[in-house]
Amino acid sequence: MTKTKIEKIVTGIPVIGVLAKGAVGLFRQVVFSETRYWESRYAGGGNSGAGSYGELAAFKADVVNTFVREERIRSVVEFGCGDGAQLLLSDYPAYTGLDVSRVALMRSMERFKDDPTKSFFLYDPDCFVDRHGTYKAELALSLDVLYHLVDDKVFQLYMVHLFSSAARFVVVYSSDTDESSLAVHVRHRRFSAWINDQLPHWQLRTKIANPFPFRGDLRTGSFADFYVYERT
Ligand SMILES: C[S@@+](CC[C@H](N)C(=O)[O-])C[C@H]1O[C@@H](n2cnc3c(N)ncnc32)[C@H](O)[C@@H]1O
Repeated sequence: MTKTKIEKIVTGIPVIGVLAKGAVGLFRQVVFSETRYWESRYAGGGNSGAGSYGELAAFKADVVNTFVREERIRSVVEFGCGDGAQLLLSDYPAYTGLDVSRVALMRSMERFKDDPTKSFFLYDPDCFVDRHGTYKAELALSLDVLYHLVDDKVFQLYMVHLFSSAARFVVVYSSDTDESSLAVHVRHRRFSAWINDQLPHWQLRTKIANPFPFRGDLRTGSFADFYVYERT
C-alpha cells in the first residue's frame, strides 16, 4: 500500500487522524531539520524527488525555459537547486544554484563541471546577508521547495532571501494550500497569502496549472503549480 493511501485511511478515522497529525506536527517542531533530512537523503543515494524526472520535469523545464526566452532573462538564481537532474533540462544564459545540501551540490558541480554558465554555492539560511546583491539575478526560482520548508523561521528566511535576490521576477512551483500532510518532510502552506501580506511590491502575474495533478502517486502527479511573480 502506498504512503498516501495509508495517510488517507489514517486521517479518515477521526480520532486516529487527529492524533497522527498531532504527533507528526510535534515531531516536525521538536526533532525535524530540513537540512539534516535532505543531506541524509542525498547521502543515502536518494535524489531530488519524482518531480525532477519524466513528464513532470519536462513540464517544469518547458515552462521556465519558455519564460526565460520570452522575457529575455539574462541571469537566473535558484534557491534549492537539488542534485542537478532537473537542471539538465534547463536553458538559461547564466545560472547560480544554491542548496542546503552539500551532497546535492557536489552532484550538481560534477554534472556541470564543464559548463561555464553555471555556479553553485552552499546556502545556510542563518548565515546569509546579501546587501550588495552578490546573488542577485533577473529571475529567482523556487521549484518543488516551498512545501518542504516545515519550520516557520526557515520558511520566512527562505522567502525573504528568494524575493530579495530577484531583480524582476520570481517563479515558484509549489502547492498553495493549508492541507495537512502526514509526511514529515512535507508541509503545505498558503504561501501566496504570505506574499500578499509581507511583500507589497510583488504581484502575481500568472498561474500555470500543472497538467499532471496528484492522484495518489507522486511519480505521476504533483500537487504543485507555477506562480509567476513580478516586481511592481
Ligand atoms: C524536491 S528537491 C527540488 C530540487 C530542484 N529544485 C528540482 O526541481 O529538481 C528540494 C530541494 O530543496 C532543498 N532545500 C531544502 N530546504 C531548503 C532551504 N531551506 N533552502 C534551500 N533549499 C532547501 C533540498 O536540499 C532539495 O535539494
